[in-house]
Amino acid sequence: MSRYLQSKCIDINSAYCPCILADTNHCVFCAHLQGKEMCDCNWSGVCILYEKKWNARNETLVTRDPRPELACPIVERKFLRENICRLVLTVPPPLAEQLKAPGSYVFLKRAVDPHYFQLPIGVMQVPAEDKIVVVLETVGPKSRQVTEEDQMLMVRGPYKNGIFGLPWIEKLVYGKVLLLAGGMGQPPALPIAERLINNYNKVTAIIAPGAAGFINVEELQLAGVELLQVKSLRRMGYACLADKLRADTWDLLVSCGPDAQHFAVIDAVREAGVELPIAATNNSIMCCGEGICGSCAKETADHHFVRTCKMQLDFADLKHL
Ligand code: FES
Repeated sequence: MSRYLQSKCIDINSAYCPCILADTNHCVFCAHLQGKEMCDCNWSGVCILYEKKWNARNETLVTRDPRPELACPIVERKFLRENICRLVLTVPPPLAEQLKAPGSYVFLKRAVDPHYFQLPIGVMQVPAEDKIVVVLETVGPKSRQVTEEDQMLMVRGPYKNGIFGLPWIEKLVYGKVLLLAGGMGQPPALPIAERLINNYNKVTAIIAPGAAGFINVEELQLAGVELLQVKSLRRMGYACLADKLRADTWDLLVSCGPDAQHFAVIDAVREAGVELPIAATNNSIMCCGEGICGSCAKETADHHFVRTCKMQLDFADLKHL
């Protein structure tokens, strides 16, 4: 599998394109829709300018609002630890279907809270055609409010860019994958592992409780992942990763956890002298999810700023902290 990943907008070729960025001349892909004269896009099978100008649904995103907020009942609420809550929500089947893809997430808030309480949360499972499972850690007022609600939450979605390197995960078949998941990196690891295993890949995971002090082996084992549990990624996990990299050949490495973990994984791969694509969970602070607010912007190694709620890229291209 190619180590090279072309950066592109996660919403291109979907029902969510053209978006409000095209309406405001800030499209991340189309030069014309950035106000430039020349077309210099990397053709990806769709002309966003054409879609914008000539498509019958030439309304703005604001008028058609493709991701409306929906009131969804909570059918199960369970605290896995004092500060870690598992919620099962009933959502419309078309939304649940779209949330099956690895890296999918939704914004949640209580109905009585103002819009700035919306909290982005990755979808861990879609166990039925109208159910989603999320696991969240209470770290501040937004997450506290959401976990205290037991009747119904407002759900906005689907959003898709919860993992960088998604095309590698989706395209790999009959490969060998090494997955690292620390603490709250374990919930997003589950749909990634399931997708890889469905595509006949063999997945070996090194997992650790991390700062959250939380281990989720059961569902990963059920999915068919070969598990190696360590007490701490920092103290044992990275050494274990280095051993695995030297002992075998791998097609893909997936890091689920904080950015510090991703950078440690990149360093370990470089030290081992291995060329390997590395997919990594997106930990950016998300407020709008639509490329508007700028809260998710990150600097690349060549000093550009990208809005990571929209841009699908190789995490290794971001500025190393
Ligand atoms: S979350 Fe607002 S621009 Fe990305």
